[in-house]
Amino acid sequence: MNIIKLNAIDSTNSYIKENAVKNNFESFTVVLAEKQTSGRGQLGTVWESEQGKNLTFSILIKFLDFKITQQFYLSMAVSLAVLVVLKKQFEATFYIKWPNDILADKDKVAGILIENSIVGNFIKNSVIGIGLNVNQTNFSKEIEHVTSLKNISSVEIDKEKLLIDVVNSIEYFVEFIYRKEFLKLKEMYMNTLYKYKIPAMFVDKNNTVFMGKIVNISVEGQLVIELENEKTRKFNLKEIKFAS
Ligand code: BTN
Repeated sequence: MNIIKLNAIDSTNSYIKENAVKNNFESFTVVLAEKQTSGRGQLGTVWESEQGKNLTFSILIKFLDFKITQQFYLSMAVSLAVLVVLKKQFEATFYIKWPNDILADKDKVAGILIENSIVGNFIKNSVIGIGLNVNQTNFSKEIEHVTSLKNISSVEIDKEKLLIDVVNSIEYFVEFIYRKEFLKLKEMYMNTLYKYKIPAMFVDKNNTVFMGKIVNISVEGQLVIELENEKTRKFNLKEIKFAS
């Protein structure tokens, strides 16, 4: 495993994007930072993490024939990889919250940011960024529903070992993509999906609150929700969130 350890960097995702081609990084190169000065989350958010306490890292994965239309399977593979490691080692009920947040009970313990470089209809280089809250115990009051593995287990966790377990798990789940076993990935993902088939409150992009239940994930990775009138609607990430 090739791990590049940095003390401080703007963002490990940006670091790989800027250096992978120039420095000919091999597939599964891992970049780990003790501190990110501009850690990035989904939808342009900031990823905050207390220096030295957590895992903030990115992995470069190179693909040869991975179609853009199949890209959500990578999200599935990576979120399953993180979830399975946590499930084996910690006592909580872990879920994947669509598209790829990892929850411990109801609180977010890890976030994933995937950035792809595309040539034609294919994904070539994928940068998988993972922020996993490990030993941080205090979080800013503005961030709700967040936790860490130490908060769950009350013990200090060996970050290096956990990193190796997660990277190995990602290698294992990415093999499903190499073998084109997409349906197996989807089945495992749906089995761990937060609020799957359970009525829940959602907020759409017009701030309208409505009740519905998740009934599927489309091939494009959209959330398919059955509304109270039994009609279904598909939503992109920018278009919907859970109401609480
Ligand atoms: C999210 O839940 O919004 C995704 C968070 C992803 C954070 C990680 S930390 C390592 C990598 N570098 C970044 O700038 N972001 C990702």
